[in-house]
Amino acid sequence: MTALLELEGVNGYYGASHVVRDVSLRVNEGEVVTLLGRNGAGKSTALKIIMGMVRCQRGRVMWRGRDVSALATHRLAREGLALIVEDRRIFSLLTVEGNLRVAMRRGSPWQLSDIYRIFPRLEERRRNGAGKLSGGEQQMLAIARALLNGPSLLLLDEPTEGLAPVIVEHLADTLAQIAAGGMTILLVEQNLAVCERLANRHYILEEGQIVYHGSSPEFRLADHVKKLYLAV
Ligand SMILES: Nc1ncnc2c1ncn2[C@@H]1O[C@H](COP(=O)(O)OP(=O)(O)OP(=O)(O)O)[C@@H](O)[C@H]1O
Ligand SMILES: [Mg+2]
Repeated sequence: MTALLELEGVNGYYGASHVVRDVSLRVNEGEVVTLLGRNGAGKSTALKIIMGMVRCQRGRVMWRGRDVSALATHRLAREGLALIVEDRRIFSLLTVEGNLRVAMRRGSPWQLSDIYRIFPRLEERRRNGAGKLSGGEQQMLAIARALLNGPSLLLLDEPTEGLAPVIVEHLADTLAQIAAGGMTILLVEQNLAVCERLANRHYILEEGQIVYHGSSPEFRLADHVKKLYLAV
């Protein structure tokens, strides 16, 4: 299997506080991989290190076999990495379609019609102001905008956080569809049912360190691991 992204002994700090510790992980092309762990474990920081938003101190971030640890965020975006964060970066004064059009890029394999096929809800709301969308719809718009840029890897930070159960289901279906289309995804997510459904492999972070790694079938049976490291 071809590794798209590899972290090799990566460390990250906020001032003197060492929040990501010798983290190594790998995401192969076409895989969905989760990064799990309790609040404050370092999951978002790990994503920010990958995306060049927090400096990688010691260790390396490898992208398609090349060291990208020192690249700036916009360069990484151009390389095909897309981070979708909790605070959804949409333009509330534009319509839904306006937001999508701003994100469109020439040469991207993703067109507006593809987006509307996957997110029929966004098509229904295309003339609405984006600021009026529900939380779930805003999350869909944020993912749609990232897709239009034609990324090779989606980094998703808690996409279902704060959403009603029926919307979570819908979003999980949509992510499953995107993954089935061949998208590679690194997912930070608290909802274990969603994780187990979508992912091929799982990593758990605890106090900045990887304490577990397993395939989805292994993880499904690992009740002790979930009790020990996750809030279940
Ligand atoms: N900008 C910051 N400055 C200083 N400390 C920070 C900053 N961001 C996060 N931290 C701290 O770093 C540690 C890891 O935070 P991080 O946000 O990566 O955790 P997380 O696993 O994403 O948690 P959550 O599940 O709550 O989102 C925490 O102790 C947090 O308080
Ligand atoms: Mg977080």
